[in-house]
Amino acid sequence: MKPIKQDQTTMHLPPTVAWVEAAPGKPGSGRLRLLDQTRLPNREVYLELTRAEEVFAAIRRLSVRGAPAIGCAAALGLAAALGQSRATEPTEFLRELEKVAEYLESARPTAVNLAWALHRCRKAVARALAEGEPQVAELQGVVLREALAILEEDRALCRAIGDQGMTLFEGRTEISALTHCNAGALATGGRGTALAPLYTARERGLTVRVFADETRPLLQGARLTAWELRRVGIETTVICDSMAAQVMREGRVDLVIVGADRIAANGDVANKIGTYGLAVIAAYHRIPFYVAAPYSTVDLAMASGRDIPIEQRPAEEVAEIGGRRMAPLDCSFYNPAFDLTPAELVAGIVTERGVLRPPYDQALRELCRQE
Ligand code: MRU
Repeated sequence: MKPIKQDQTTMHLPPTVAWVEAAPGKPGSGRLRLLDQTRLPNREVYLELTRAEEVFAAIRRLSVRGAPAIGCAAALGLAAALGQSRATEPTEFLRELEKVAEYLESARPTAVNLAWALHRCRKAVARALAEGEPQVAELQGVVLREALAILEEDRALCRAIGDQGMTLFEGRTEISALTHCNAGALATGGRGTALAPLYTARERGLTVRVFADETRPLLQGARLTAWELRRVGIETTVICDSMAAQVMREGRVDLVIVGADRIAANGDVANKIGTYGLAVIAAYHRIPFYVAAPYSTVDLAMASGRDIPIEQRPAEEVAEIGGRRMAPLDCSFYNPAFDLTPAELVAGIVTERGVLRPPYDQALRELCRQE
């Protein structure tokens, strides 16, 4: 497995997404390694995947989840699947690449990082083909190198978001933040997006306390955010989603910070279901509501949040908890996995290049242009 540089925070956390090198003399045996997040917090189980169908299923059932992490996993999954290609001609390889990339992209519709990462791998291959006459083995190497570059870049983006987010805490020695879902190390290739400034603040000596919304239906807050924050030693209080307003009213929260699955050109944010409600109650209590995300989560092709596709998930996720039925069999269920928070409720977007302030249109364009 590729060694990764550890720091004070990530040394406590296992890598969410990693690459296992092919065994010597066995080309095509490289694998995508994932920490299976459906098993947390009770068990630390790893999956090693090579087939496109396995990677698709792991993304769909949320063994790997969080916008940047699914981008990294899809790119490495593409490299693993294509590492096994039997194509003998570059054109045949290219057809296979398109087919597998399209298939993986269809695993989940909302987080744009998935399509973005796969597009980057396709572009790298197109570039190699335009520049010379590479053989299939070289093209396989191109996909893998691009996928590893995406993972490495994500690690750096998370670190930079952590550094930039420190400006939110100027003059403070203590912070109490509320977050929703999981936008930490488990959701990225690095130390997270929303949690990154909190990790960095702690490393720099601030006292950090976090309220983690449990995040029904799949409990990413209780299962994952609380797990990673506690591994790092941050004081964490898990609350039911319905308790956030009361906790704010009691004056226990300085700021809300969440991640994003896609940010439209006007600054509207798609994120885990419940984010919008949180932004509304934060506004009522005059508590700043921040979103943290890298440029790879910004989709300038979406003029506003209304254009962003929202993933609909199975009814059982709402109807059941831990496999036990929680509602009568004859009612219906609705399970949108994400919601849209209008830009006007967002006090700032913490990016790798600084904290953007409203209006967001031009600042987001500039961020994407620079990157
Ligand atoms: O359904 P999930 O668990 O993939 O949803 C994840 C989120 O909504 C995160 O907040 C978002 O992807 C940002 S992760 C840095």
